[in-house]
Amino acid sequence: MEHPRNPFILGHRIERPYFCDREEEEKRLASAVINGRNVVLLSPRRMGKTSLINVTVRNSPIIQEKYQTFFLDILQSNTLSEFTYLLGRTVFSTLAERSRKSLKGFLAALKSLKGTFGFDPLSGTPTFNIQLGDIQHPEYTLDEIFTYLEQNDRPVMLIIDEFQQITKYPEKNTEAILRSYMQRLSNATFIFAGSEFSILQEMFVSSKRPFYNSSELMHLGAISEEVYIAFATGLFEQRGRQLEEAGIRRAYELFEGNTFYLQRTMNGAFADTPEGKICDEEVVMRSVRSMLAANEVIYREMLSKISISQKSLLIAVAKEKRVTSPTSGNFIKRHSLASASSVQSALRNLIKGGIITKDIDGYTLTDSLFRIFINHLYSAPEL
Ligand SMILES: Nc1ncnc2c1ncn2[C@@H]1O[C@H](COP(=O)(O)OP(=O)(O)OP(=O)(O)O)[C@@H](O)[C@H]1O
Ligand SMILES: [Mg+2]
Repeated sequence: MEHPRNPFILGHRIERPYFCDREEEEKRLASAVINGRNVVLLSPRRMGKTSLINVTVRNSPIIQEKYQTFFLDILQSNTLSEFTYLLGRTVFSTLAERSRKSLKGFLAALKSLKGTFGFDPLSGTPTFNIQLGDIQHPEYTLDEIFTYLEQNDRPVMLIIDEFQQITKYPEKNTEAILRSYMQRLSNATFIFAGSEFSILQEMFVSSKRPFYNSSELMHLGAISEEVYIAFATGLFEQRGRQLEEAGIRRAYELFEGNTFYLQRTMNGAFADTPEGKICDEEVVMRSVRSMLAANEVIYREMLSKISISQKSLLIAVAKEKRVTSPTSGNFIKRHSLASASSVQSALRNLIKGGIITKDIDGYTLTDSLFRIFINHLYSAPEL
């Protein structure tokens, strides 16, 4: 790998030594899927799910040699047709990298879409020029895709990122449909990933739901503070710079160990530390402030779009950082909120909009930088 200018890399394909920790998680994930156990990988936003899956798949010789992996991200999808479209496109582009023969086999299997494929006039290779609207009967097309996967010469590993999205499709039976296809595939293992804890938990743990008991739940927490500090300090030292502990500890606390924000903060702090110099707390905080400045317009816009009762609740949650019972009399009184019922409905909307997240430890702002921004504006600044 090329020696990067800044060792705090932001992206999905980070190789060690620039990838921090997660060795245990990597082992556990690889072992589960190699042994035929499906996994649901849960974590708050930007904690490192996608990166962990990528690292695991790339570093496991067994997965590389024995499996055919398909990586599907359905975050932007809103209907079963779109899901089908994305799955078809993913299978197509993955096969295109492998062999023309399997590509042709796949296209031949998609009978419901016959005639909608094109061929590159120069190379003669098939091109996936299907439009969303071409998928008139997603169930037929899905059936064809899964039938093809069933006959694949290697076992299939299907990774579906942001899986909670399927619960938002208008088709009521999406879960049941997908679950039945999944059960039909005898040669496939699934990794589902997502950040909407309560939705996914309910989907896989409630006995009334089709995915009940189908997969092992794996929780991805924050990288431990000491491990991340050692990682960052090491990277500074390798480049002839010194990192003082105080700054990075503060960043860890501010972002509650969120991997993306830590990496982004340290990327800025590194860029701001000349060789031979020390990166102290002020340099790290300058990096956090510059992230705040870069997001200010978006955050102001977000605040302008929500109702006054949502805003009051948001300010209250931001101030306390984490709240266990936001409808309690105490909390309502402390923050002069209107009533339990209005808090309840504001809370529902904020969760729906992805602004507040509920997890096992209570309610928090999904985006901790947004929390810092709000506290800066309305309460005691955290910086
Ligand atoms: N172990 C790690 N070491 C260094 N950087 C990491 C590590 N894990 C994740 N990152 C970085 O953190 C950021 C977030 O990671 P990633 O996108 O994998 O998280 P995610 O949980 O999938 O997020 P989302 O909720 O947005 O899907 C990325 O920029 C990635 O480069
Ligand atoms: Mg992700």
